[in-house]
Amino acid sequence: MKSIASAPGKIILFGEHFVVYGVKAILCSIDKRITATSQFLDEKIVRVSSSLGESEMELNSLNNLEKVPQKFMKPFFYIVKKALEENSTVKGIEIILESDIPAGVGLGSSSAACVAATASVNGLFNKLSKNEVVKRAIQAERIIFEQSSGADSSVSTFGGLMSYDLKNGFQNIPSRNDLSFIISNSAQIHDTQDVVRQVRNFKEKNEDIFRKLCEQEIEIVNNATSALKENDLNELGSLMLKNQELLKQMGISTEKIDLLVKEAKRTSHGAKITGAGGGGCIISLVDDSNRKNTLDNLGKISDCFLAKIDYNGLMYA
Ligand code: PMV
Repeated sequence: MKSIASAPGKIILFGEHFVVYGVKAILCSIDKRITATSQFLDEKIVRVSSSLGESEMELNSLNNLEKVPQKFMKPFFYIVKKALEENSTVKGIEIILESDIPAGVGLGSSSAACVAATASVNGLFNKLSKNEVVKRAIQAERIIFEQSSGADSSVSTFGGLMSYDLKNGFQNIPSRNDLSFIISNSAQIHDTQDVVRQVRNFKEKNEDIFRKLCEQEIEIVNNATSALKENDLNELGSLMLKNQELLKQMGISTEKIDLLVKEAKRTSHGAKITGAGGGGCIISLVDDSNRKNTLDNLGKISDCFLAKIDYNGLMYA
C-alpha cells in the first residue's frame, strides 16, 4: 500500500523581515508542489529519498536523530518516529519526495516537504485532518529551524492567500485573486537566519530609521490588503516596488537582485524580493498582457518560471 500526499511552496508578497518585529505579512501558496509517497518496508529501517540525496536509519536509532548526517533530512525521520509511536507500530517505512519547487531559495520547499511527508506517512495508518497535519509538520520543522513561525507550513497546508502577524497569528484572506507571478532565481544562496541577524544589526544601529521603515511597511501592507480586495494589479505592483525599496534600505538586496528587479520593472506590474533576501528569488506580478515579455526578459539573465496562487494546499492523492 502506498500513501501519497502533496503540498505547495509559497511566496511572501509583502512584509518579510518586518514581520519579525510585529508588522503583518501577506503570503500565498503557489502551484509548485512537493509530493511524498510512503510505504511500509519489510526491513526495520526508515529510508528517505529525494533529489537532494538519500538517507537511511535503523528503527531502533530513531531516538537519536543527531546521527542523521544531512540536517535537512532530520524532520522526516522525526515524522516517522512520531507516527510509529502514536500507532504503536514497529515497521520500516520508506518516503520518496519529488519536488518541483527549487530548494533553498525562500520558496518554502522544506515546509512543503514536512507537510507532504506528515500527511503521507500518517496516511499509512489514518488520514489526518489539515489541522492535525499542520501541527505535526511545524513540530518537525522546528527540529532544524527552532524559531520557525510556522507561517510557511500553514500556508502550504491550507493554500491560498494568508496574512500573518505575531499578535494575531494566521488569518485566511478570503479574496480569490487569480494572480500570476514570474519567479526569478538570483542563484545566490542565502541563509535565512544570517539575513535575519543582519537586519537585527541594522535595526540596532539605526533605531529611528528602522521605526520609520516599519511605519512605511504597515501602510504598504494596509494598501495591499485593499488592492487585493479590488484586484488592482497596478496598485499591487507599485506597492511591491515600494516594499522592495524598503528592503533595499535595510541592506538585504544584492547587485543581482537589483538587476533582476530593474529588468522586471520594464514589463511587469512590479517586482520585489520574496523571503529573506541576500540572494534567493524575486517575484514579478504579471498578467496575460506582459507575462511572455517578462519571462523572456528575465529568462536572459536568470532561471525563472511562472507561478500562480494555489488554492488547494495539502492534497491526498
Ligand atoms: O526566505 P524565507 O522564505 O525563509 O523567509 C524568511 C522570512 C523572514 O521574514 C525573513 C523571516 C521570518 O521568520 O519571518
